[in-house]
Amino acid sequence: MRICIVTPAAPNSWKGNRITALRWARILRKLGNTVRIITEYHKQIMDLLIVLHAWKSYSSIENFKKKHPDLPLIVALAGTDIYRDIHKNTQVWDGLKRANRLIVLQPLGIKEIPPYLHNRTRVIYQSNTVKSSSGSKNTGKFKVCVIGHLREVKDPLRTAHAARILPSHSKIEIIHIGAALDKHMESIACAEVNSNPRYSWIGEISRSKALRILAGSKLLVHTSKMEGGANVISESISLGVPVISTEIPGSVGILGASYPGYFEVGDTKALAGMMEKTEIDKSFYQLLYNRCKSLQPLFQPEREAETWSSLLSEIFPDRIHLVSTPLETRFQEKKQQIGNFSRQLKAEVEKGLGSQNKSLSYKYFYDQRGSELFEQISELPEYYLTRTESRILTQNSKQIAALFDQSPAVVELGSGNSVKTGILLRELLKQFGYCQFFPIDISPEMLEKGSRNLLDTFPNLDVQAITAEYLDGLNLITGNGQQPKLILWLGSSIGNFDRIDAVGFLKQVKKRMNVEDKLLIGIDLRKEPELLVKAYNDSKGVTAKFNLNLLHRINKEFEGTFNLDNFYHQAVYNDKLGRIEMYLISKCNQTIHLNHTGHDITFRKDEAIHTENSYKYSFSEIQKLAEDAGFHLDYRLTDSGNWFSVNVLTPGN
Ligand code: AVJ
Repeated sequence: MRICIVTPAAPNSWKGNRITALRWARILRKLGNTVRIITEYHKQIMDLLIVLHAWKSYSSIENFKKKHPDLPLIVALAGTDIYRDIHKNTQVWDGLKRANRLIVLQPLGIKEIPPYLHNRTRVIYQSNTVKSSSGSKNTGKFKVCVIGHLREVKDPLRTAHAARILPSHSKIEIIHIGAALDKHMESIACAEVNSNPRYSWIGEISRSKALRILAGSKLLVHTSKMEGGANVISESISLGVPVISTEIPGSVGILGASYPGYFEVGDTKALAGMMEKTEIDKSFYQLLYNRCKSLQPLFQPEREAETWSSLLSEIFPDRIHLVSTPLETRFQEKKQQIGNFSRQLKAEVEKGLGSQNKSLSYKYFYDQRGSELFEQISELPEYYLTRTESRILTQNSKQIAALFDQSPAVVELGSGNSVKTGILLRELLKQFGYCQFFPIDISPEMLEKGSRNLLDTFPNLDVQAITAEYLDGLNLITGNGQQPKLILWLGSSIGNFDRIDAVGFLKQVKKRMNVEDKLLIGIDLRKEPELLVKAYNDSKGVTAKFNLNLLHRINKEFEGTFNLDNFYHQAVYNDKLGRIEMYLISKCNQTIHLNHTGHDITFRKDEAIHTENSYKYSFSEIQKLAEDAGFHLDYRLTDSGNWFSVNVLTPGN
């Protein structure tokens, strides 16, 4: 996915919003996306917009939804958003109805959101990578750190004022980090420094320096009057530095209602009392420390990445699932994935069966049962394609591996059960010792089965399975390091495309390739019609079952009333177009009802549903196909009978 994150915070500031944007960008990139951070939406091209700070970025929200009402939008209610700004204009909530998801940074944030938006709101705790430090803090001083820009809303000098009324024996020293955002604040802070020996202010410094100072402190004091959910609090917790905070929802949401380290906003005396208590009462200090320590798991980066990953799959349900090892966790999502595919099928059924010439896309053959039936087809004596291709691959695997001088990333489009791929992977592993394999398939069951088989056979193989349509899947892999890619498109799957679409598709693949990448395509060849027709009309009737299963699938998913006995399978060879055409033919006049969609579909006797084309190519057609798509046909590998071909294509320039 191409994702843009809008943050109103300027590029080189370290305001909380900017830090959050940078971290989310990093997480989202790791999840396989392309991410840009911008300060305002201005017609940038993207698949998803994430907006930080609904109030300040409201114009971006509006402009984006005006231009792209259908593209998904996530709005994070950060900073002062939920506790102040948004309430200035309740219309904003109305606008936020158009956001697909809202994010708050701590659980109490949900309370501020109108109930009708609750079901689309998610909590994302801000993670960090800082680690508990065991560094020595025994300098004789009791260092108290304050981090926050000198803005009214942060009540920035409260800690300094509290320090003034500490008893003289106290060793407390306040170190304040944060920029003065205007001259007036600066002069106030300087005056405080000059008159308050316990207070020093060091302005804005790098984040890493700030964290180092925080790590060396005994305590973080957080005086904000209002906060969406502060990064510094979670960082302090991760560093193992206990926190004293104002009792505001942004902090209570993180630290918990019963946390013992709160004081009321603006209450200098209470703050002073509490600081003193942490200094002299060891068990109180230990209590704060233990409570903070127990919260550390909330802010682990893995946890935030997981939250994002599931949020993205809520938003793009029918598109991409990057399946990285361990396979177990990811494949659990496959049920949801299938549900979404059936939504596409619904549109397809309405369109394809509602029209004059009825048709359905071949794509929907491959539910679990359909994939199994196809596996059976590939083992039939009449279906020469799979067997012949395997033989060609076996005979030429050494030469294919020799096309590369380093281990290529093997990408397979429509990998199915990956059996044939094993032939090439074995050779590559033999030559290079290791190999990365990215199978892309729309059937998660097949993908899992194939991946597991390969992992069992080849311990040095690294498999990242991707449940997606071809190009979506390829998008995820392009830019994956410096390795050359070997893209496999086997089994004459190209036959399902008409000749023009095949060129168009190959052009799209080429766009996603580098010069050193290679594309290996298995293509069935033109031959005597008799052999072809037999391959699609096998004597055991498996292909008929495969074809009819489409109706079974529709029955299952839409509670349809197709009687499979009232249709028969037909496969004919269209010599002029050079293709096998598959149909389901109605044996009688009949009306089918789909309960879930409320549709009625009527069939005349002998009326057909066109379910698949399987194009066959001559050598010169393959040559032309490659050229038209901008490829160079480097090698053509065939069997002795010239029944099938495996073609090596390289991007022309
Ligand atoms: C998977 C598209 C290559 O066309 O030969 C097999 C599908 N249909 N028997 C083909 C198929 C009927 C197969 N492809």
